[in-house]
Amino acid sequence: MLTDTHAHVQMPQFARDREDVIAAAFADGIARIVVPGIDLETSRAAVALATAHPARLFAGVGTHPHDAATLTDEALAGQRALARTAGVVAIGEIGLDFYRNLSPRATQLAALEAQLALAHELDLPVILHNRESHAEMVAMLHAHARGVRGVFHCFIGDKTMAQDALGLGFYLSFAGPVTFAKNVELAEVAAWAPAERILVETDSPYLTPPPFRGKRNEPRHVALVARRMAELRGLRFEELADLTTRNANTLFRLPELQPQEGVTQHASL
Ligand code: NI
Repeated sequence: MLTDTHAHVQMPQFARDREDVIAAAFADGIARIVVPGIDLETSRAAVALATAHPARLFAGVGTHPHDAATLTDEALAGQRALARTAGVVAIGEIGLDFYRNLSPRATQLAALEAQLALAHELDLPVILHNRESHAEMVAMLHAHARGVRGVFHCFIGDKTMAQDALGLGFYLSFAGPVTFAKNVELAEVAAWAPAERILVETDSPYLTPPPFRGKRNEPRHVALVARRMAELRGLRFEELADLTTRNANTLFRLPELQPQEGVTQHASL
């Protein structure tokens, strides 16, 4: 059983066939899916999916760095209330993106700081987006994330960056890029990272692994990431799946999956 720790299945890209995509993932052995929000509205939609699929889908509530300018005091209060809902397992997706800079840097930093404080207040892990902003991210976590746990989602950094994240107690989640042949250094990090700190994800609808590149990504493709990770680490696929599912259960405090939950879902398809 696999856990896709990052899939935006609430997004408009899945408007026409969302429930089919979720059912296809379950049928392919994806046990759990964590659905992060990128603003208040998509966080609400993630919570609605978690409510509709208890014990299988879980929500992250957060405002992405691209949308940091939308995190008004009112929106933050909305996130705080929403984050107390059953099925919410993280504050995310939050972070910094100094590559695209879709919100001003100062706004991104303020939104991240406020949401780290919210995670601390509610004792929830954070799901971090970090692009071309590593030094600022590490400084922010040192200053404002005392006692906050979490994950660097879609980790694409080098070994030094991985060591920084691990040193802060964070997990590393690997996505489609680890399957791309050109990413030799990332493959080395994926092979080396401590077993108890690795997760797998799709970041659906983005970052589709081969042989589906160019198409919309879906949670069932997390198996392709897991297969590559298993190969890199010299494990059987099932071992890697179990390991990363246990890690996801620990980080997000997911209830242990009862074997009959999977059976029930298959029977209802
Ligand atoms: Ni994402």
